[in-house]
Amino acid sequence: MAIGPFSTIVLAAGRGTRMKTTLPKVVHPVAGRPMIERALRAVKRLGPEEVRVVVGYGQDLVRQIVEPYGALCYKQEKPLGTAHAVRSADVDTLEGKVLILNGDHPLLNLKDLTKILKEAFEMKSALAVVTCELEEPGSFGRIIRRQGSLQAIVEAKDASHETLKVKEVNTGIYVCDAKVLRKYLPLVESRNAQGEFYLTDIVLLAVQDGVRVDGIKASDRIAFGVNSQKELAMATKKVFLEKAEQLMADGVIIMDPENTYVEDSVTVGAGTTLFPNVFLRGKTSVGEMCVIEPNAWITDAVIGNNVHVKAGSYLQECQVASQCEIGPYAHLRPKAELEEGVKIGNFVEVKNAKMGKKSQAKHLSYLGDAEIGEGTNIGCGTITCNYAADKKKYKTKIGKHAFIGSDTQFVAPVTIGDGAVIGSGSTITKDVPAEALAVTRAKQVIKENYAKKLKE
Ligand code: UD1
Ligand code: CA
Repeated sequence: MAIGPFSTIVLAAGRGTRMKTTLPKVVHPVAGRPMIERALRAVKRLGPEEVRVVVGYGQDLVRQIVEPYGALCYKQEKPLGTAHAVRSADVDTLEGKVLILNGDHPLLNLKDLTKILKEAFEMKSALAVVTCELEEPGSFGRIIRRQGSLQAIVEAKDASHETLKVKEVNTGIYVCDAKVLRKYLPLVESRNAQGEFYLTDIVLLAVQDGVRVDGIKASDRIAFGVNSQKELAMATKKVFLEKAEQLMADGVIIMDPENTYVEDSVTVGAGTTLFPNVFLRGKTSVGEMCVIEPNAWITDAVIGNNVHVKAGSYLQECQVASQCEIGPYAHLRPKAELEEGVKIGNFVEVKNAKMGKKSQAKHLSYLGDAEIGEGTNIGCGTITCNYAADKKKYKTKIGKHAFIGSDTQFVAPVTIGDGAVIGSGSTITKDVPAEALAVTRAKQVIKENYAKKLKE
C-alpha cells in the first residue's frame, strides 16, 4: 500500500536548556547543517500536503531556516509541553493523517520515514507511536503494554523504579488522525513531574476511550535525539561517517574515515584520495583522481580532475580546473578562477582573479582583482596593490607568457602586455607594453671600505 496524503508537524519551540547555550537547540549544526534543516529535508522529500513547524524560543533563527523549505511557522507562546506545542500548530485546520516529529532528531532520513508512514497507512491506524528498544533507555518515555497492546507512555521523570526498567521507548514520532488530536489534546492535563502538557498522554486518553493505539517498531537510529552537546557531537560524527562510507562505496580513497569531514551536499569523484582532517563543505564538488592532503578546508569550490590540494590550504567559492596544484598553505578566496594546470604555492592568496592555463605563483604573493594570462610566471612576493586611498578596488591585467620578477608590486589599475618582463623589486605604476622590460629599482651604489670605517 502506498502512502496516502498527510501533513507534518515538527516541534521546535523548546530552548534546549541542556545544550547550555543561548542558541535554540534545533539550530545547532549537525555536520554543517542545522539540526532542524535535516529533519525538514527528509520530511519534504516525502511529499506532505503541508509542513507546520512550532516555533518559540529563538523563533527568528528557526524561521530563517525552515521557511525556505515552504514550512509554515506557528508560534507557541510559552513552552508548556509537547501537547501544548502540537495544539499551537492549529490542529483544527488539519485533515487526514498527521506525522508528528521532534525537531531535535537529526538522523531522521527519507528511508526510515517512508517505512514508518507506510506501516501507519497499512495498519489503518488512528494513532500510531514509533517505538524502539534501547539497552540504555535513559530519559526516554517508556512504552507500557498490556498483553502486547500499547496502553500508555510514561515519561522517565514520572516513572516508577519498575517502569524505568522497560526498554521499549517512545521515539517522539507519531502518525495519527487529525481528529484524534482534536479530540484528545484538549483533555491533556499538566499534573506530572515537569508540570507540562505531555503529548504522550493522548495515548492513555485514546485507549481509555476504546481507540486502538498501534506501535511501529523502528531502529534505534530513529530514536537518536540531541539533548546535550555530547549528543550533538555524536550526531555529527555519525553523519560524517555515513557520508565517508557512501563515498568509499563509490570509489573514493579515504585514509581515515573517522576523521574525514565531508558534508552531505558535496560530491567527490572516484579515485580521489582524502587524507585525514579534510573538510569538504557546502556546494563543493571535487573531480576524479585528485589528492586532498590533511587540514584542507574547502567550501563551495568546484575542483576538476587530477588536482592536488596540499596540506593546510583554505579554499572558498572558487574554481579550480583539472591538473592544478594548490598549496601547501594556499588561500583561494571568492572568485579565484584557475584554468588548467595552474600552480599556486605556499602563502599565496588569490581573490577575484583569473589565472590562465599553466600560469604559476608559487611563493608568498597576493593576487587580488587581477587577470593573469596563460603561461605567465609570478615571482615570489609579488603583490597586486588593488585597494587605493580612495577606498576603491582596481584591477591588474597581466598578459600571456610574461615574467614577473620577485618582489614586484603592481599599483592598480595597470596593464602588462604579453611576454613582458618585470625586473625584481619593481613598483609598477604605469602600463608596460608587450615584450618590454620594466625595472623601477634605484641603481646600486658601492662605497669601498665604507663599512669598515664606520666600525673603527
Ligand atoms: C519527548 C517525549 C518522550 C520521548 C522523547 C524522544 C514528551 C512529553 N516526551 O521527551 O516520551 O521519549 O521526546 O526524544 O513528549 N517542544 C516544543 N514545545 C514545548 C516542549 C518541547 O516545541 O513546550 C519541542 C522541543 O523543541 C523538541 C521536542 O519538542 O524539539 C521534544 O522536546 P523535549 O523537551 O526534548 O522532549 P523530551 O524530554 O526529549
Ligand atoms: Ca528530546
